[in-house]
Amino acid sequence: DRAAAPVVVAIDGPAGSGKSTVSRAVAARLGLSFLDTGAMYRAMTWWMLANEVDVQDADAVAIACGKPVIVSGTDAAGPTITVDGQDVSGPIRSQEVTSQVSAVAAVPQVRARLVELQRGCAEVAERGIVAEGRDMGSVVFPEATAKIFLTASEAARAERRAAELRAKGVDAATITAMAADLARRDAADSSRETAPLVQAADAVLVDTSDLTLEQVIDRIAGLVEEKARLS
Ligand code: DC
Repeated sequence: DRAAAPVVVAIDGPAGSGKSTVSRAVAARLGLSFLDTGAMYRAMTWWMLANEVDVQDADAVAIACGKPVIVSGTDAAGPTITVDGQDVSGPIRSQEVTSQVSAVAAVPQVRARLVELQRGCAEVAERGIVAEGRDMGSVVFPEATAKIFLTASEAARAERRAAELRAKGVDAATITAMAADLARRDAADSSRETAPLVQAADAVLVDTSDLTLEQVIDRIAGLVEEKARLS
């Protein structure tokens, strides 16, 4: 008997599609590891800013990007991210990192380095991994067991993000500014030259606008189980 090949679930989509919550829940449900690749691009950006690298200077970013040691903990129950041993899970969500990350993520040398780390995480995941980002199905894991492209209408995404921010006590003007920033970031991520956000030809499109979180998780978990049986 041959051991079953580890499962790789590739989940891509724009910011605010519910990707992170959904991906983590699917991983927990199926007993798989979980990898938030956006957190790795954020960690790289955080390090650049902390070390006064001009993130608009692609050459400077390319030269510096080999320096930080970025480590992702892939337990779905409590994912972690460190840079040079420091826990950066809080600081990588700051508005400053969020507004600069697209520029860093557009640099090919950054992507080459992080893609290598991402594949390494999948290799050591015992039962398999759910990896979420922008290019999981198209570039990083072309042979994935299942590929999902998550979307939601712009209105649904904006409303979800606003509700999250309201719950954190963020004021209305800031919420409006952040919505504009989100639209700008999606446009940048979708139009860059290297590995833009795109639905892979063999990815299943799931529109979450009118679905509850439970419905989305059920749908994706079912799809993965079906594909894993067939492979
Ligand atoms: O998912 P997120 O918002 O945390 O991602 C942060 C940024 O990283 C996003 O603007 C695009 C970039 N990113 C990417 O280019 N490729 C990935 N696989 C994941 C994220």
